[in-house]
Amino acid sequence: MTISVEKTPVPLAILISGRGSNMRAIGEAVAEGRVRGVVRVVVSNRADAAGLEWARQEGIETLVLPHQEAPTRDDYDRTLVDALKARGVRLVCLAGFMRLLGPRFCEAFPLAVLNVHPSLLPSFPGAGAQAQALEHGVKVSGVTVHFVTPELDAGPIVQQASVPVRDDDTCETLSARILVEEHRVYPEAIQRVIAGDWRVTGRRVVRAS
Ligand code: GAR
Repeated sequence: MTISVEKTPVPLAILISGRGSNMRAIGEAVAEGRVRGVVRVVVSNRADAAGLEWARQEGIETLVLPHQEAPTRDDYDRTLVDALKARGVRLVCLAGFMRLLGPRFCEAFPLAVLNVHPSLLPSFPGAGAQAQALEHGVKVSGVTVHFVTPELDAGPIVQQASVPVRDDDTCETLSARILVEEHRVYPEAIQRVIAGDWRVTGRRVVRAS
């Protein structure tokens, strides 16, 4: 892993599809020096993603790349890779980006794509993780930050945090409790990856030293 030894801030891309609250949490952590990175570009696959407005106000470059315009997933991945490489991006942070990225993308950024997911993976991958947790009746759920591989929500886990599931929870209340932890854990995990004292052994992300 080489992004770690950089003395200069690591160029980041943040990919969103919606409101972008995790993107803001990362942006704030960068501004406060808790993440030693610089947000080079915010990419959305949806022109109406609310988060784009925040990025524009912050003076961060925004790109809208609608996935419907790409004939295949591979074509979309190629467009995305080209756009990020052209901007010198070293670490890609998915923040509510609701598109599966294929092998082409993952191979272009090996162990350099992170995702935040609102459950304790491997439980409840995919869409509606909080509703899945409520439906299943678990008493604890949480957040997972993991490396992205072509298999949905299945890459090596960098960091997790748990929250209780309460008897009177609705999808909204549980999601809100998890989101607080997402905003705390995701910047921490990004900085851990940037700092570089880690290696992947099997599925495990462990300290290198
Ligand atoms: C977050 O809860 C994130 O964990 C989830 O979408 C939400 C995006 O919110 N992502 C997934 O479910 C990915 N499988 P945000 O746009 O406010 O960051």
